Amino acid sequence: MGIQFGGDYNPEQWPEAVWAEDLKLMKAAHVTTVTAGIFSWAKVEPRPGVWNFGWFDRVMDGLAGAGIDVCLATMTASPPPWLSRAHPEMLPEGPDGQRRWPGGRQHYCPSSPVYRSHAVRLVEQLAARYAGHPALTMWHVGNEYGCHTRQCFCEVSAADFRRWLRERYESVDALNDAWSTAFWSQAYGDIDEVLPPRAAPTFPNPAQQLDYLRFGDDALRACYLAEKAVLDRITPGVPVTTNLMPQHKPVDAFAWAAHMDAVALDFYQDPHAADDHIRAGYVFDLMRSARSGQPWLLLEQAPGAVNWRPRNGPKPPGAMRLWSWQAVAQGADAVLYFQWRQSLGGAEKFHSAMLPHGGTDTRIFREVAALGAEFAALGDIAGTRSRAEVALLADWHSWWALELDSKPSTALDHSRIALDHYRPLFEAGVPCDVVPPDRDLSGYRLVVVPNLYLLTARDAERLATYVRGGGRLVVSFFTGIVDEHDRVHPGGYPAPLRELLGLRIEEFWPLDQGVAVAVGEGGTTPHRRNREPGGPYSGRADLWSEVIGLEGAEALAHFTDGELAGRPAVTRHSYGQGAVWYLGTRLEPALMRALLDDVRAEAGVRPLLPGLPEGVQATVRAGAEGQFLFLLNHGDAAVEVPLPAAMTDALAAATDAEGGAGPTDSVTLPARGVAVLTEPAAGTASTPAEGS
Ligand code: GLA
Repeated sequence: MGIQFGGDYNPEQWPEAVWAEDLKLMKAAHVTTVTAGIFSWAKVEPRPGVWNFGWFDRVMDGLAGAGIDVCLATMTASPPPWLSRAHPEMLPEGPDGQRRWPGGRQHYCPSSPVYRSHAVRLVEQLAARYAGHPALTMWHVGNEYGCHTRQCFCEVSAADFRRWLRERYESVDALNDAWSTAFWSQAYGDIDEVLPPRAAPTFPNPAQQLDYLRFGDDALRACYLAEKAVLDRITPGVPVTTNLMPQHKPVDAFAWAAHMDAVALDFYQDPHAADDHIRAGYVFDLMRSARSGQPWLLLEQAPGAVNWRPRNGPKPPGAMRLWSWQAVAQGADAVLYFQWRQSLGGAEKFHSAMLPHGGTDTRIFREVAALGAEFAALGDIAGTRSRAEVALLADWHSWWALELDSKPSTALDHSRIALDHYRPLFEAGVPCDVVPPDRDLSGYRLVVVPNLYLLTARDAERLATYVRGGGRLVVSFFTGIVDEHDRVHPGGYPAPLRELLGLRIEEFWPLDQGVAVAVGEGGTTPHRRNREPGGPYSGRADLWSEVIGLEGAEALAHFTDGELAGRPAVTRHSYGQGAVWYLGTRLEPALMRALLDDVRAEAGVRPLLPGLPEGVQATVRAGAEGQFLFLLNHGDAAVEVPLPAAMTDALAAATDAEGGAGPTDSVTLPARGVAVLTEPAAGTASTPAEGS
């Protein structure tokens, strides 16, 4: 099937006369797939129950005639004005009770039966009309759930929340227990008394807030599932997806992925952020892992600048190509953009598009078309998969609980902490999966737990079992503190992990903003000397510290100044057949890298390629069609990358007029350069053959 290439297609923004040119230019840009109709509701149903599909039939037929596949949107992301006028109760409300009015998009309460029933009715029409249409290859439900309306706090949501609570707890006593309502006189006599955690004079009950985040995610997913049920019934066999967002708190990507036939992501790199490719790396790995390695779809990215950051830098020459290949290198089988043709009016007219205001004689169109040609030439990549020996854990429930108010520190930012732990693996060139805590970990040599404040006793036991069986585990501070109801696990922190970690934390000692402490040797507990003299784990740490009492673990580094001077900061504990490292603070990046390099060495995890120059990312995808080695130079200077064996630069071979050079044992990558290497075809020389 090849790598899908294309973008959002919004033909209703243009007179019909433009559509023929769209098709011609899509072909010129090697577009294989468009996502059509995302915001077409008001045009296909201009009045309640009055259907106007004729124009969209012509769009679908034109695309089919041009051989372009359609990932057909269900059009439900922006309800038409007549609907909210007739039913203002479908509009969402914020925690302050303020209504969010129409005029933008996503102005619906996810629990609204009015919204859901009208959406389902529209999807029934769409599915019946386009079932069997030659252009239809996939369904795109809604759009970026929870992007603008993350949660709703209206009366309709309140009633739906109470229904959700009755299913979860069955009795008010169970709810009171789970929410610790004995505190601050909050005990309920009846579930009917419960409200959403609306703006209150002070901290609303944290367990209530946590459940409301769970409920909010479920309410959004119920919208998605209601539409998906219609599609599965009327067009069985047509895969269904929706576009997830990166590190998007309201939507638990792992829970959603279970209901998606293919995982899809929108990712907008920030050209002004020097290392945004590392954030991309983390998110792409999570998307690939969400359905256990199944290829995923990059459903939206920008060809150039976006228009929604305060300052919107364009992607400099080569960056869009590099970052698109990065998605493919990390398991994507589709690269699509928002949007095909740049709008002349509306809120996104200054957002870049594949076909800019300036037309085809523009850098962006040329780069888009050239990239389309590259993907068309290397279609065999589609369907291949990659393997990782390291897993990083991520969990939305813990994220939700961690970032509630009334904590030792509100500076613990889940997304930032995840990247602090991912970065040293990415920079070392070590492939990594990002998985939830209930995933089978037995196949990994190393598991890294960035911060799982909320950890169930069962998941803690799974970590212990993993280490007992020979696994290597790294655990960072403030992990294993509370249960699923945000209640502290009794028995000293972190109670369910104390035996595994071989320590007890007596007191949290978060550090103030801008304060760093020194870590190194010189503690009052025995110090394990496993590094060269002069090279122990010494440097700076910030954000967090804590009073660690050793109960079998040994200290690898101590705090050497500040109030906790002399006390352990980093520990190691042999446990069963394996070992576990614990970090009681946030180490500065170089120190974190040194520690994780040592842990990896002990776990037997090596980088994919030895001697990978700094700034170069390497990944492998393999399948029946062979193996592809991707090299991506994120640095700003050319580098030479030695190869493990003579290989063919398949990308150069496919796109060079001359057919590229023969097999080579090293590749020169210019700044932002990309190479895709394959094993030489049988019969070609195994030594580099210049110009052959
Ligand atoms: C999101 C939306 C698109 C568009 C882009 C702009 O990804 O899904 O409709 O608004 O953002 O970046």
